[in-house]
Amino acid sequence: MSTQPYHVIFVCLGNICRSPAAENIFRHHVQQAGLDDVIRIDSAGTHDYHPGKAPDKRMSKTLNDRNIKSAGSARQFTSQDMCDFDLIVTMDKENYANVIRLAKSPELEDKIMMFTRFCQQPAHQIPEVPDPYYGGDEGFELVADMLEDGSRQLLEHIRQRMTQ
Ligand code: 4NP
Repeated sequence: MSTQPYHVIFVCLGNICRSPAAENIFRHHVQQAGLDDVIRIDSAGTHDYHPGKAPDKRMSKTLNDRNIKSAGSARQFTSQDMCDFDLIVTMDKENYANVIRLAKSPELEDKIMMFTRFCQQPAHQIPEVPDPYYGGDEGFELVADMLEDGSRQLLEHIRQRMTQ
């Protein structure tokens, strides 16, 4: 395996619900695999609605109920992030479109993937991680379920990339 750290960033709209949850859930998996020294994880939003804000309390509660820590401070995704990260994982089609607009070469475009491609369970075979912000608790549970499901396959994907 490469000794260079691998950098992955999760991207949603506001960086207070889905992408910080993805960051914290994926970090939990990476720590359990003993790979936190070699896989660096961040998150950002394509919009600057909530700069510096901690994750949404409803999202944090959902993670805490699963014994997963919820930390983070919202920030906007930048074109510098396009260069700095090896893999950019977007939550929905709108985030994907916003990020790909910042990719100025095919090599940069190749870094961008939708999170849902890593989900395995039939109930999670849907095109996007749905935005839970304006909905009820069940939306936050679905987001966390999808992120836990996809994190396993994402970790395998990164392990393979690191050995190439
Ligand atoms: P997120 O959810 O993109 O998963 O962080 C949202 C957070 C805030 C808003 C929309 C979605 N908002 O409109 O403020």
